[in-house]
Amino acid sequence: MSERIKNNRQAIKPRWLDLYTLESAKRKGLDRPKQFLEVPEDSLKIPLDIEFSNIKQKTLTEVIASRRSLREYRDTFLTFEELSYLLWETCRVDSFRENAVFRTIPTAGATNSMETYVYVNKVEKLKAGIYLYLQDTHQLALIKREKNLEDIVNDSLLKQLRNAQAVFFFTTIPARTEYKYDFCAHKMIAIESGHACQNLSLAAEVIDAGVCAICAYDQEKVDKVLNIDGEEHFTMYCATVGKKK
Ligand SMILES: Cc1cc2nc3c(=O)[nH]c(=O)nc-3n(C[C@H](O)[C@H](O)[C@H](O)COP(=O)(O)O)c2cc1C
Repeated sequence: MSERIKNNRQAIKPRWLDLYTLESAKRKGLDRPKQFLEVPEDSLKIPLDIEFSNIKQKTLTEVIASRRSLREYRDTFLTFEELSYLLWETCRVDSFRENAVFRTIPTAGATNSMETYVYVNKVEKLKAGIYLYLQDTHQLALIKREKNLEDIVNDSLLKQLRNAQAVFFFTTIPARTEYKYDFCAHKMIAIESGHACQNLSLAAEVIDAGVCAICAYDQEKVDKVLNIDGEEHFTMYCATVGKKK
């Protein structure tokens, strides 16, 4: 086994007991990182639906059975309600307090290092663009619209956009979890993004859509598309979403 592989494996098999004797940022009494991202006051904020009367529910057994990675999508639009539903089931925050965030997905020690961005390609009532999901208020905030965004996103995903109606980008601000778990944080951060993508995959089945998880993307380009710095905040996992043919 090469040293490179050996070193990389260490991040997914950290020695948990060493944490108990380590001076984590929390033990040192440093300031806790902010729980949620904020956007400038004058950003365009769009409240999302919280009622889904047009969405015909399926059983959990049905959605688990029908889920497959989907890489070809019908040429159509998601409704605003459908996108709201996907965000609601995947990323919403049910409650939070000063030192804990409770979401639809579990997060290590309720530290919730994750943020979610959406590239809206074809969604009714929404202009194409990159949006940040404001998880504490269930709103979308417009981050950017620009010429040729579809090509830029496709390029950053190594040509895997595949005419999807939307792309979810699960990003991390690792300091939120490192604050408490230091060197053990990184395995847990990766697992969290998997939880989110799984919820997205199952929620998509409910609306006759499918998801393709994407790890094979250009890290620098995706982070740039999202306007995030790539060091203290970077992309962990992407997922294209679109209607079944
Ligand atoms: C962590 C992870 C990363 C993946 N990255 C990609 C990817 O970059 N591109 C892609 O087309 N599929 C990707 N996939 C999808 C897998 O190829 C797919 O899940 C696998 O072929 C099994 O098919 P199924 O999802 O239909 O069961 C990824 C899946 C996982 C779990």
